[in-house]
Amino acid sequence: MAAEAGGAAGKRRIMCVGLVCLDIISVVKDFPAEDSETRCLSQRWQRGGNASNSCTVLSLLGAPCAFMGSLAPGPAADFIAADFQRRGVDTAHVAWHPRGDVPCACCLVNATSGSRTIVLHDTNLPDLTARHFERVDLSQYKWIHFEARNAAEQSAMLDRVERHNRAAAPGRRVRISVEVFISKDLAQHFGYLSAPEALQGLRGRIQPGATLICAWAEEGADALGPDGELVHSDAFPPETLVDTLGAGDTFNAAVIFALAEGRTLQDALTFGCQIAGRKCGIQGFDGIV
Ligand code: FRU
Repeated sequence: MAAEAGGAAGKRRIMCVGLVCLDIISVVKDFPAEDSETRCLSQRWQRGGNASNSCTVLSLLGAPCAFMGSLAPGPAADFIAADFQRRGVDTAHVAWHPRGDVPCACCLVNATSGSRTIVLHDTNLPDLTARHFERVDLSQYKWIHFEARNAAEQSAMLDRVERHNRAAAPGRRVRISVEVFISKDLAQHFGYLSAPEALQGLRGRIQPGATLICAWAEEGADALGPDGELVHSDAFPPETLVDTLGAGDTFNAAVIFALAEGRTLQDALTFGCQIAGRKCGIQGFDGIV
């Protein structure tokens, strides 16, 4: 039997391109007042960053996946690399920089409300460039998700994937998502007050054939499909909101997972809301499936 191009196991992977950082998380009972000193309920280090969190979820869902982003050697990167390995996330395309700090976030998770408050430092590690991305063998991937950063370089990366797709047989094309998932924050920044409003407002800006998805926390998520169809899923809130850190990244990963499996947009949206809801009811990611 001829080996299929696309990796030892013959299964094409999902790649997430974007940020990885160290999250130092303190779980508090009540949000502290400024200039106060309190004890937290628990504290942990967790590998964070949107693309990196989405990889965690993809691997928990059972999808072979890869992370691509920047790191610099040191104790934080050792922790991160070991955690990627523990989860079975491929990191062969991580860009290692000799200088710079690994981004680090101090996060307060309020166990009473589930809110997450993040203070991120990610100023001096160079972003991934199109040159790094040229080394990626695109035939190994069925889906590449880009967390929007560094627009000029990322648009060159996208051009490369589109060139590849024009030459590839339909079943060998790489599906792309680029901040297809418009956050509530971003939508509100543009003046949209609900997910359907955001979709209608943004539909003129997307390529024909693209899907637009907008998650809206407790209101669930809405999507506009390639043929203009609108779909909605309600949220699946857990009994108690415990930890919302990475809930959006979880939603993205679950939707990508379901669409990559060939499920309908409606199914994918519902699945995304279910898995994201489950995530909000637990600390971290273990237990979402
Ligand atoms: C959650 C998250 C955290 C990280 C921050 C970076 O979505 O990725 O893990 O600290 O956002 O913006």
